[in-house]
Amino acid sequence: MNEKKGIAVLASGRGSNFEALARACLDEEYPAVIRALIVDGGEAGAIAIADSFGIERVAVECGAKKGSMTPESSERMAKICAERGVELVCLAGFMRIVGGALMAEYRGRMLNIHPALLPGFKGLHAQEQALAYGVRYSGCTVHFVDEGVDTGPIIIQRVVPVLDGDTVESLSDRILQEEHQAYPEAVRLWAEGRLRIEGRRVRIREKA
Ligand code: GRF
Repeated sequence: MNEKKGIAVLASGRGSNFEALARACLDEEYPAVIRALIVDGGEAGAIAIADSFGIERVAVECGAKKGSMTPESSERMAKICAERGVELVCLAGFMRIVGGALMAEYRGRMLNIHPALLPGFKGLHAQEQALAYGVRYSGCTVHFVDEGVDTGPIIIQRVVPVLDGDTVESLSDRILQEEHQAYPEAVRLWAEGRLRIEGRRVRIREKA
């Protein structure tokens, strides 16, 4: 196999998608390796997961303003990634809009996972939004990151039914199971060089 692609995961919370990626990377056939977990605070559950997998973790202070990051923190993250040979940045429950140096450096090489079928229910509390709207199906989306919030070209979507009696928790759990499949699959496709962005469409090349 060609050399594995280095990735960094950015997380703010629980870290279950980070864990799914870390598990996938344990497979020696998997084409990517996690070089670092970057968190924006000391509280993230993802930190304990990094420790259990022996993955380096770095905390970067991103500023007091919720949802955004300071230019200095973006620069620091870009430097951390560059120093570790990171080729792809994966946002996994990272609760800030990425701009600045990190965005400039990793445009087209940054992915995010969202717990709804985009372009529906962007932003926060996507599962609650879907439930309140009354959709029959929801799911998750892995997409490239652009300047907007949950607006970049879509790589993978997985669908789940919304059942009678669903609560935000039960729907979120069902979606999360799919997230844990979709994210490692999207990273694999990227690492194998099989994704090409054409306008809003992402073309996926068949495996040779
Ligand atoms: C996931 O639902 C993800 O889609 C969203 O934030 C949540 C993060 O969960 N962006 P976890 O920290 O990966 O468990």
